[in-house]
Order: sequence, then structure tokens, then C-alpha cells
Amino acid sequence: MKELPKLELHLHLEGAAPPAFIRGLAAEKSVNLSGIFDARGAYAYRDFVDFLRVYEAACTVLQTPQDFYRLTRAVLEASSAEGVIYTEAFLSPDFCGGRDLDAWRDYLAAMTEAAADAEAADGIVMRGIVTCIRHFGPEAARETARCAAETAGAFITGFGIAGDEMKGAPKDFAYAFDMAREAELQLTAHAGEWGGARSVRDAVRDLGVTRIGHGVQAIEDPALLEELAEAGITLEVCPGSNVALGVYPNWRAHPIERLRKAGVPVTVSTDDPPFFHTTMSGEYENLAQSFGWELPDFAAITYAALDAAFCDTATREALR
Ligand code: ADE
Ligand code: ZN
Repeated sequence: MKELPKLELHLHLEGAAPPAFIRGLAAEKSVNLSGIFDARGAYAYRDFVDFLRVYEAACTVLQTPQDFYRLTRAVLEASSAEGVIYTEAFLSPDFCGGRDLDAWRDYLAAMTEAAADAEAADGIVMRGIVTCIRHFGPEAARETARCAAETAGAFITGFGIAGDEMKGAPKDFAYAFDMAREAELQLTAHAGEWGGARSVRDAVRDLGVTRIGHGVQAIEDPALLEELAEAGITLEVCPGSNVALGVYPNWRAHPIERLRKAGVPVTVSTDDPPFFHTTMSGEYENLAQSFGWELPDFAAITYAALDAAFCDTATREALR
């Protein structure tokens, strides 16, 4: 599976940091990270909210633009080894200098340089989606949207929202999304991972997104599925993440195949691979085993990702 060319639309940059990378930075900076690793050195969390705690604790060792240069290189090298030729990474000004615009520009310069170096070394193409964090609230989201709007361009092509879906409602973040839209950024929102079909409906209506992060719980509402199919709203489905976090008890129970059969554009991503003990080829292998997916099925999701990618036409055509 590794050799198949893949596109990934949903990858959190910090969430892709291997535990050993985070431990290395913690040692360099003398940061005590007890309570986030298990006995074997893997990330340890009890449930989704605890996952967010561990995630944010790991981010405390990412303290300088140089740390983000190293992280970006490490993540893109691992993705490239999985056959990924194009990746969209969620980048969080919250963890890059606390949403200060000048600091964000410095961090972003380091990530942009790392992406260019990775492209020169391995051919992998990266674009960034600036992401606000829902449980940090609407005011923080507006500051994040300002960082996004001020740096929108060839590399920063999108704006999104991640974090605890059960906190607040999409409409609370409409102002931040309006700012991003005015800056000509393309829009996505995590929804329907925990908040049901209603959460997907609200994100589409109140934020005007063209993609949904996860969105899998739309399966509960046949009318919504028709609307998503009709509007061509693409789901960034991360089955391994959903199974690891307990949204579904196992791969066979995952709705990805039913979503696809309902005509909804579906793509496949890893979300936060080391947290969920997954990789892109691991996702593909599980899809082959659980649903009998074969080469034409993988080609279909690759073309769906190409259609939904937040990049310019020239980049899209070069990938085709
Ligand atoms: N941030 C990183 N991974 C996430 C997930 N699966 N859901 C919401 N926010 C996240
Ligand atoms: Zn995510």
C-alpha cells in the first residue's frame, strides 16, 4: 500500500509529532512531560477530552520557529515515506506564539521553508490550513482568523476549526469564518465527529464551509446525506482516528462505505497518526480488509481529494 500515491487533506501538524520527537524537545528544554506517555512511550489518554489535554501538553515543548521547522520536516518525511504526494496540514497560531501576528509570521516562515525543503528533497507538496480551536472560544478564533487572513496566499490556502466540538455552536465562530472568507481562504470545520448530524448541518449553514472534518455522524440523517451529495461537500474522513477515540467500536462499524454509497464525496486521512497508531497505508490496509476496497476504490478517493484540495489550479493539475 505504501507505493500507491496518496493525497491527505486532514492532518494536524502538532498531532503528527511522534512521541520520541516530543520527548527529545522536552529533554532539550528541560520540560517535565510526565502524565502524557504510557509505559511503552506512546501517548496515553482516556477519552477525547483527555486526548485534547495530552495534545496540548505535548505542544508546550514546541517553543520556537526552529522547533516547527524540525517538526514540519519530520512530519513530511514520514508522510512521503507513506506514499503521500500532497498534504494539507492544520496549523495552529495558538501553539505558535499564542496568536500574536508578528510571532505567527515568524513561525509560519519556518514552516513554509521546511515545506519548500521537503518538496525539493522528496517531491511532497504541502499547503497549510490555519485552524482555530473551538474550546478556546470565539474571541481567540477571531485572533486566529486575523493571523490567517494576514498570511493568506500560495501556502496558507484555508481556514478551519478543530478542538472540542461539544463546546459552543458553529454560529459563535461565524465572524472568524467571515474574516477568512473575505481573505479568499477556503473553509473547513471539524463537525459530526462527536456532535451528531445536527453539528454538520449547522457548520455548513452557519460557517459556509465546503469541506467537513470527519462529518461521519451525518450518516444518522439521510436528508443531510442528500444535501451533502448535492452540494458536493467533501468529508475528510479519518476512520483510524474514529476507531481509536471510540466514535465507532471497530472498523467494520465505521460508516465510510455507507457514506460513499450515499454519494457523499469522501476522502481518507490520518488526523493525528502517532496518537492513533496509524499511517496512511495503515488506513488503506484497514479499508481493504474491512470493506474489500481495491485499486479503483483507492483511485476514487484520491480523485475526490484532488477535487476538494485547497490549492490553486496549477498545483492541482501538476498532481493529476
Ligand atoms: N485536534 C486534533 N485532532 C482532533 C480531532 N480528532 N478532533 C478535534 N480536534 C482535534
Ligand atoms: Zn482533526
